[in-house]
Amino acid sequence: MSAAKLVIGNWKMNGSASQVRAFANLAACEWPGCEAALCVPYPLLPAAQMAFGATPLRWGAQDCSAEDDGAFTGEVSARMIREFGARYVIVGHSERRAGHAETDGQIVGKVQHALAAGLTPIVCVGEKAEERDGEQTAMVLRRQLLQLVRALGRDLGSIVIAYEPVWAIGSGDAAAPGMIDHTLGFIADMLTFHAGSSASAVRILYGGSVNPRNAEAILSRKPVAGVLVGSAALAPADFMDICKAAARCSTPATSDAT
Ligand code: PGA
Repeated sequence: MSAAKLVIGNWKMNGSASQVRAFANLAACEWPGCEAALCVPYPLLPAAQMAFGATPLRWGAQDCSAEDDGAFTGEVSARMIREFGARYVIVGHSERRAGHAETDGQIVGKVQHALAAGLTPIVCVGEKAEERDGEQTAMVLRRQLLQLVRALGRDLGSIVIAYEPVWAIGSGDAAAPGMIDHTLGFIADMLTFHAGSSASAVRILYGGSVNPRNAEAILSRKPVAGVLVGSAALAPADFMDICKAAARCSTPATSDAT
């Protein structure tokens, strides 16, 4: 299995077609050991497809509907996103859980539709500051993941999970590497307990105030399969520096035949 580290940029409600093109100019070279993608606002998907198609950079969206089609004004289906060549879709980001009251059940539906459309869902989980302070992190993560694990069965291995403590997002203060190790280890153990061997293929990322200065310290931790990056993914040079750090931290791919 390839041990390339995954670097996913989350542009949130930022960016423009010219910014997409600026990234494409810088992303022309490949870093073996780093798989990178930018999740852009829906209207920028055509620009991303046009600009990134000839680069190693992949692209995706930041949410999708839990429905196929129909009378759902304002919704965008996973199939529509896939039509623009997208590979990834972020699902269950804390800003959607908080601002749009997304439930764990709806998130399961979105993940299933993303998989059916051929997208790789990046499912965000993480505790709020008060939950961390109340030592409820494990309980929150179990609640956010259990329904998903039960619903997906063998498909679990096709998703990516991003552990994003809500208190670290946009704060400038990433979680400490030791704490990231501990929490990602907890998630991996929980998945294995409930899903057995399909859990071993799940890539688990860290997100929350990742930047070019702390990326290497985070990406070099063994349980960290990659990072989900918000504000530092808006500046091409910063994002590329994080990709270079990911390439340095990757382990050589092992042959599937061995
Ligand atoms: P941040 O955002 O890197 O700006 O903290 C991460 C995210 O919200 O995914």
